Amino acid sequence: MNFFVTGASGLVGSTFSLLAARLGHRVIGTSHHFTGGVPGLHQELTLDLGVPEALQSALRAHPVDVILNCAAIAEPALCDADPVRSQQINVELPALLAVEAARSGSRLIHLSSEQVFAGERPPYRTTDPVGPLNRYGQQKVESETRVCRLAPVHAATVRAPLLIGNSLRRDRSLHERLLRDWASGKVPRLFTDEFRQVCSAENLATALLELCGRPADCGLFHWAGAEVVSRYDLGCRIRQRFGLSEAQAPLQPVSRADDPAAVRQRPAHLGLDLSPLSDRLRTRPASLADQLSGLVAP
Ligand SMILES: NC(=O)c1ccc[n+]([C@@H]2O[C@H](COP(=O)([O-])OP(=O)(O)OC[C@H]3O[C@@H](n4cnc5c(N)ncnc54)[C@H](OP(=O)(O)O)[C@@H]3O)[C@@H](O)[C@H]2O)c1
Repeated sequence: MNFFVTGASGLVGSTFSLLAARLGHRVIGTSHHFTGGVPGLHQELTLDLGVPEALQSALRAHPVDVILNCAAIAEPALCDADPVRSQQINVELPALLAVEAARSGSRLIHLSSEQVFAGERPPYRTTDPVGPLNRYGQQKVESETRVCRLAPVHAATVRAPLLIGNSLRRDRSLHERLLRDWASGKVPRLFTDEFRQVCSAENLATALLELCGRPADCGLFHWAGAEVVSRYDLGCRIRQRFGLSEAQAPLQPVSRADDPAAVRQRPAHLGLDLSPLSDRLRTRPASLADQLSGLVAP
């Protein structure tokens, strides 16, 4: 297949591009600020995806079977820091991709987030009402609605959970941040009562690639790992994965009750029900042990 991957320099985009290239697919990918070169790409386009005309002409110059949208301002604090910019990338961009997919007949896979939910009643099904607590989650909800409306028979939107993996920038995954903090003598604070169904970028990419080849599967889907874990326990498992002792790699356990103001916009428990996608794909949700074994120290 031929792919056009937006955000190919990001954690998911780079993992997907490499996987697809290794399996013989042809991937054209976009990057913006990242200048290190994205492995596996047939062609890398440096584009500001906030400029619709630039994206439109790139898409029309490179007709593909599948557009995979991995570009995003994917952290709540960054969305709050620049609401206009994050609206452009998180909402207007996927809407434009949906229009282009419907026009050209390409399939569109758009990535959304577990943060569309409030985190009070897990596990969340795809049919459950959304209730985002932060701007990022609100933007993801709006993107899902627009993509679904503009490309109902071309687009699939996949909500992903907290992701871990080896990022090109070496700072996107929790293990990269923890290892950096430990190396500089910091003691990271992690919540013992905030739960995520963490997934590796590699396993998500495998599921996305399989979904790309199933054009009849349109609409909204969930994908995540096989286990729900607290952020603190995840930190401990990462420490163990790299063979570090508590003295070498200290972690401070904290409770959400310790800091009610800080957690107001953070969903507490984001377990996801993976049906119907998990029934349709051969790819299986990965165990935490498998996910951790794929992590490398930056
Ligand atoms: N990571 C997670 O834990 C997680 C969890 C749930 C859902 N998701 C969703 O999964 C998708 C992929 O996330 P990710 O973690 O892979 O993201 P990421 O690592 O932060 O990468 C974001 C990508 O978007 C690109 N980008 C941002 N603004 C751009 C602009 N103005 N023009 C062109 N490119 C721009 C970046 O390009 P440069 O870096 O080259 O500037 C980068 O390639 C997103 O939709 C995200 O919301 C992620």
